[in-house]
Amino acid sequence: MNRLRILSGVQPTGSLHIGNWLGAIRNWVNLQNTHETYVCVVDLHAITMSYDPIKLAEDTRNTAALYLACGINPEHSTVFVQSHVRAHSELCWLLNCLTPLNWLERMIQFKEKSIKQGSNVSIGLLDYPIMMAADILLYDADLVPVGEDQKQHLELARDIAQQRVNSRFGKDENVIVKVPEPLIMSEGARIMSLVDGRSKMSKSHPDDNSRINLLDSPDLIKKKIKRAKTDSNIGLEFTNTDRPEADNLLGIYAILSGKGRETVAIECSEMGWGNFKQLLIDATIESLKPIQNHYNEIINDRTYMDNILKEGAQKANSVADTTLQRVRSALGFLKTIG
Ligand code: AMP
Ligand code: TRP
Repeated sequence: MNRLRILSGVQPTGSLHIGNWLGAIRNWVNLQNTHETYVCVVDLHAITMSYDPIKLAEDTRNTAALYLACGINPEHSTVFVQSHVRAHSELCWLLNCLTPLNWLERMIQFKEKSIKQGSNVSIGLLDYPIMMAADILLYDADLVPVGEDQKQHLELARDIAQQRVNSRFGKDENVIVKVPEPLIMSEGARIMSLVDGRSKMSKSHPDDNSRINLLDSPDLIKKKIKRAKTDSNIGLEFTNTDRPEADNLLGIYAILSGKGRETVAIECSEMGWGNFKQLLIDATIESLKPIQNHYNEIINDRTYMDNILKEGAQKANSVADTTLQRVRSALGFLKTIG
């Protein structure tokens, strides 16, 4: 039986944090044994905002190493760098020409990010979701495991596939590209900032205390959790709005301790913040330890990393080229000669 295919990616900008892990990467790891898994480091997306060219290549390699450190097994998953597969840029252009501008202008992430950029917003930032659609459609992905914040981009990819490609160019019910489904887990899909329980934990937040990075040292984790915003109530509970910091930190503890929400809600119902924070510090340090150890083992082995990314690119290119040819032909392009 054919296994369902998944595709996902993270940008190599800044350090990966526990939101990226719990919202996205952890799910890829859980799915890789039962699904055909493609995971890429989306470096073309990383240049949509101002970036440092001296760091891009290194950050790209480090991000791929973190995928492996989190448990992505290159024998089960294809791990590759987006820019190593040129078909992404080409399909992006084709989809650009098929997609109405106003579909992009209403993207929440574009609006939020462009406010921060002032007058220096690149066309690439607006185009970002189309590149993401190209990433997904090239691999005929059935499912795309992402955090909650990517839901709108996934809906756009579906609309482009269905309304702009298949129904316009697919003759007689002929499907040209597969329409993907988002896969957003109920737990961990939206990890919030440590300094404000109402905003998302994010790589780009200027205050590093707002997030726990996967490579933070035990001392730093301790310091960040101790400083994390709390409220004046004693006893922690899930409220789903009234106490955003309690919801967030208890939720993180439920996942990292492996105990689940019901158990931790009982365990912490009468606990003061000080005692709870110590539990959270221990659970966080413990769960990041194996990731950090694995990362340290592989990060300096350049040949090992290069080989994985080379094999990944070969496999990804062969799948992506097949899809691209199908789209080119449906759109009416002259076949390449020779
Ligand atoms: P990014 O950091 O924007 O490259 O996001 C990479 C992946 O991590 C995407 O699937 C996001 O949905 C997910 N993600 C990013 N931030 C969070 C967060 N705070 N909580 C849960 N998932 C997140
Ligand atoms: N836009 C995604 C994010 O910031 C990253 C991404 C790019 C992606 N291409 C993708 C995720 C394709 C899933 C599938 O989180």
